[in-house]
Amino acid sequence: MNCCGRLFRSSVGKKLVMAATGLVLVLFAFGHMAGNLQIFLGPEAINRYAHFLQSNKELLWIARLVLLTCVVLHIWSALRLTLENRAARPAGYEGNPAPPEASFASRTMIMSGLIIAAFVIYHLLHYTACVQAINFTGTDFTSLTEKTELGLERHDVYRMVVIGFRQPVVALFYVVAVGLLCLHLSHGIQAMFQSLGWMNHRWRPLLLKLSPTLAWILFLGYVSVPLAVLLRLVG
Ligand code: HEM
Repeated sequence: MNCCGRLFRSSVGKKLVMAATGLVLVLFAFGHMAGNLQIFLGPEAINRYAHFLQSNKELLWIARLVLLTCVVLHIWSALRLTLENRAARPAGYEGNPAPPEASFASRTMIMSGLIIAAFVIYHLLHYTACVQAINFTGTDFTSLTEKTELGLERHDVYRMVVIGFRQPVVALFYVVAVGLLCLHLSHGIQAMFQSLGWMNHRWRPLLLKLSPTLAWILFLGYVSVPLAVLLRLVG
């Protein structure tokens, strides 16, 4: 307990919390992207996958709780560290929040992070809670069901995503939000490697290239879905 308290109080501890929770969220982002890409295999693949997740309620709720805890701890440690850094900054730094050589991504971490959090709330209301008022299609997504070969009824996630992204404003909003997510990750993954102590002499050159590469893979993987629907390549 005492050790936990020290972890959350010290700057190094908070950096470790931010890196470990960031790692879990990045792993989730890759897993979720792989799930989404099944849309290119047709309705059967993605609907079977979504049904499998929805029918394992205990596992689903454990995953949701882990993710929620990571999101809360990640935002908390980021805000605390920012406030502590500001308080420790000499007066001459006033009005010059970061060294000039810092990248755009690193200078906008808090802002991009908060916008991503807002996007995730919208996204959960859109496709998980299926709130009709915010999908701008006039369709109740909960009513989209289909019958399996065995005659069982399941949610038609394929049609839901297609109808959802046929709305250009919604699809473009997703593209912009995912762009911000990947900008955040291009610096975040690198900072995570640093905090976890992996940026040693040997690995540094490789890890510096790996972070933007991973961010680009996520960007292209995620935006391919709304763009493919919008361009009528899917649906
Ligand atoms: C454009 C790309 C995306 C598509 C097509 C997409 C699609 C979906 C769909 C269809 C669901 C509902 C699954 C179901 O109820 O069966 C879902 C849930 C979710 N998505 Fe996404 N998503 C995208 C991007 C993202 C991003 C960038 C994040 C955050 C990093 C994210 C985080 C989540 C979370 C946390 C859930 C809730 C999982 C749950 O608790 O059930 N998604 N997504």
